[in-house]
Amino acid sequence: MHILFSVQRSPAGRLPKLLGRAYSPSPAGQRRVNYRHAYHAGNFADVHKHVALVAIIQHIKKKDQPFAVVDAHAGRGLYDLAGTEASKTGEALDGIGLLRDHQPQSPAVAEYLTVAQAFGSNRYPGSPLIAASLLRKQDRLIAIENQPGEFSSLRQALAFYPNARAIEGDTALKLRGLLPPKERRGLILIDPPYEISQELEQISGIVGDALRRFATGIFVIWHPLKFTQPIATLCGELGHAGAARALHLAFDRGRQESDSERALSAAGLLVINPPFGFERTFGEAAQELLTVLRRGPGADARATWMRKD
Ligand SMILES: C[S@@+](CC[C@H](N)C(=O)[O-])C[C@H]1O[C@@H](n2cnc3c(N)ncnc32)[C@H](O)[C@@H]1O
Repeated sequence: MHILFSVQRSPAGRLPKLLGRAYSPSPAGQRRVNYRHAYHAGNFADVHKHVALVAIIQHIKKKDQPFAVVDAHAGRGLYDLAGTEASKTGEALDGIGLLRDHQPQSPAVAEYLTVAQAFGSNRYPGSPLIAASLLRKQDRLIAIENQPGEFSSLRQALAFYPNARAIEGDTALKLRGLLPPKERRGLILIDPPYEISQELEQISGIVGDALRRFATGIFVIWHPLKFTQPIATLCGELGHAGAARALHLAFDRGRQESDSERALSAAGLLVINPPFGFERTFGEAAQELLTVLRRGPGADARATWMRKD
């Protein structure tokens, strides 16, 4: 995987402008305009994010009351690990591939592997399929995707799940109409490509607005770990929007000397309103993942409360 970052200065107290999430190498080294998650599906950052998604849903399911999952940047749902994109980067081999023979210890890793392996070794379920696989009959999934080709695949992938619905369009426009969900319990996954310079500012606006509509919702915001300072600023802004509790999960797999400086080696999740007990259960799962996904010195998985009431 290749990644470029550029942090631009902003007025004090405002989120800086950020450029870059991941994009795959192109012959001319040019920036991809249409992010395709197929290049990165099943990489270590996906594994970390998806195990967290499973752990949160496991906590939510401790109660019988229905819940809704809104996957606000859904992707295509199902990825071909033998396809051109995945083969070009090899990221899945270095992610989910390392877990193929792993004997899981924590409930979150165990259920994640059960779900992922149900699709076969050459296919990888993205966040909407993982969430859809875990729904009970009383629960719902709404998945938003704005790229027409990706949306078409997403709709097909979700067709087998009666409680799942795919919506085509821009998260900024679609999310507000979905909140609060009628169940009044739910999880919103925010997982943008960070391709445009104001993406984190947009996320701040989108999540701030969403929190005003659904203050008790659980929000999960994925980001490259290099965005730590902007994430702290984002956390402050979301505090003004009503976020009382925010837990930051950092996952750094360390580096080998030969690794490119531009390769993604660390990812973060900001969890607003984490379920009670999630810090401990996910902490165990993250340590377990680290034993398998560790690449070199500097490897670490840690949770930090950014806001706590
Ligand atoms: C990182 S990928 C999603 C991966 C997926 N959440 C998973 O974990 O399997 C981000 C997706 O968001 C979509 N996207 C980007 N901007 C969007 C927007 N404004 N509204 C809706 N979808 C968007 C992209 O097309 C891409 O498919």
